[in-house]
Amino acid sequence: MPTTLVKNGTVVTAGDRYDADVLIEDGRITTIGQGLKTPAETVVDARGKLVMPGGIDVHTHLDMPFGGTTSADDFESGTVAAAHGGTTTIVDFAIQSYGEGLYPAFEGWMKKADGRSVIDYAFHMIVRELTDQVSIEMDRMVKNEGVTSFKLFMAYPGVFMVDDATIFKAMLKTRENGGLICMHAENGGVIDTLVKEALRKGQTAPKYHALTRPTRAEGEATGRAIALAEMAGVPLYIVHLSCADALEKVKQARDMGLPAYAETCPQYLFLSYEDYERPGFEGSKFVMSPPLREKWNQVALWKGLAGNDLQVVSTDHCPFCMNEKKLGEGDFSKIPNGAPGIETRLMLLWDGGVRTSRIDVHRFVEIVSTNPAKMFGLWPRKGTVAVGSDGDLIVFDPERETTISAKTHHMKVDYNPYEGRKVTGGPAMVLSRGEVIVDDGKFVGKKGRGRFVKREAGVPLAL
Ligand code: URP
Ligand code: ZN
Ligand code: ZN
Repeated sequence: MPTTLVKNGTVVTAGDRYDADVLIEDGRITTIGQGLKTPAETVVDARGKLVMPGGIDVHTHLDMPFGGTTSADDFESGTVAAAHGGTTTIVDFAIQSYGEGLYPAFEGWMKKADGRSVIDYAFHMIVRELTDQVSIEMDRMVKNEGVTSFKLFMAYPGVFMVDDATIFKAMLKTRENGGLICMHAENGGVIDTLVKEALRKGQTAPKYHALTRPTRAEGEATGRAIALAEMAGVPLYIVHLSCADALEKVKQARDMGLPAYAETCPQYLFLSYEDYERPGFEGSKFVMSPPLREKWNQVALWKGLAGNDLQVVSTDHCPFCMNEKKLGEGDFSKIPNGAPGIETRLMLLWDGGVRTSRIDVHRFVEIVSTNPAKMFGLWPRKGTVAVGSDGDLIVFDPERETTISAKTHHMKVDYNPYEGRKVTGGPAMVLSRGEVIVDDGKFVGKKGRGRFVKREAGVPLAL
C-alpha cells in the first residue's frame, strides 16, 4: 500500500489552522497528528509551508469544439497546467449534440479524458435540447453516472441558447432528481440584436464584443433565471458572474432566503474593459462571455466574495491561440470566445486576495476548494484535509514568486492574459491521492493517472 507522510507543515482548511503531520495511505488521509512516526515510502518536509486541500476548478473547457475551432488544451496539457497551479480536481463540460441524447456526449468526454488526465475529473452536462428522452437521461446521469449538474445557456442563439420553457422544464427535472442547474446568464436576444447593429455600422474591432454585451443583459438574465428557479422550487448556480448588476440579483435572492449561488472568475477580478482597448487585435485575447467589465465592478465582486454572495472562484478556462482568435479579424463576432486561466487561479487569488487582505486564508481555501466540492457533490472526499478525504494536497509557499508568462506557463496556448504580472504565493508541491505530481515547478506525475469521479446529487449544503 503506497504511503506518503507530509511532515512539519501548517494544515489550513476552510475552518482550521494547526501544525500537524498528514499521513496518506492508499490515496486517502488516514492520520493527522503531531510528530507522526509511521514509516512511509514518500516523506515530504512541509516546514514553513501551508498544507491545504488541492484546488477544485468546477468550470473548465478542455478539448472543446467551439467557435469554429477547438479549445487549445486537451485533457493532458490542461490538467498538467492545472496541477502546476495547485488544482487537483476539475469539473469539465460535456456537450450534448443537437439531435442526440446525453449519453453520446458523456461517453465522448469520458474518452477525451481517459488515459490523458493527470488529475481527477468529473463532468457537468450542457443540455441543448430537452426532449422527453433527454429528460429521462438527465435522471440517469444523476443516478447512474455521477453527472449531477447541467449547464443551460440563455445566450448564443442557434449554438447553445434554450428558451425559458426549456429552462423551466429542466429545473423541474432537477427538483425530482436532485441535480443542479448551472446557468450562463446573458440575454441572448438582446446581445444578438446589438451585435448585428454594431456590425452593420462597421464596428468590427474586438472591443465591440464587450460593448454589445451590456451588464444589464447579464443582470436581466440572472434575475430571470433566479425567478424561474424560485418558481420551480430549486437551487440555482450562476456561472462566470462578471458584474455588479448580476451580483445584485444574486444578493437580493439570497437576502430573501432563496438558494441562489454564483461563481466568479479571476479574469473578472483582475482584468477589465480597458484590456479591449489595447492596440491592434490584442483585445481579442480577452474576448470571452460575459466580457470583461469596467474596473469598478471588481470592487463589488471582491465584496461579494468576502460577504458570501459569491461562493466559488472557477476559471472558465477556454483557451484559443492567436491564430484561432484571428478567425474574427474584421468581425469581432467570429472571435472564438474564451481565455486561458486553469494554471493561474490560485496564485492570482492569493496574491490579489489574501496578500491584500480582501479575503483571509480560510476564505481562500473555501472559495477555491471547499465550496466547489460542497456545491458539486465532491465533499468531503475532496475539498478538505481530513481523515478519510483523498490525499489531494498543496504544500503552499506563501513567499513563492512567479512572473506569469506564456514563455513559462504549461497551458498549450501562445499568450497569457496576465503576461508579466508578478505574484507572490504558490504551490511548492502538489499531491494527488498521496502521489507527488508537481515538485518545485516540475511535473512528476504520469499521463492518464487521473480518475473519473462520480459526484453526489442533492441540494447543496447551506453555503
Ligand atoms: O467565453 C467563454 N466563456 N467561453 C466558454 C463558454 C462559456 O460560455 O462558458
Ligand atoms: Zn458560459
Ligand atoms: Zn465556460
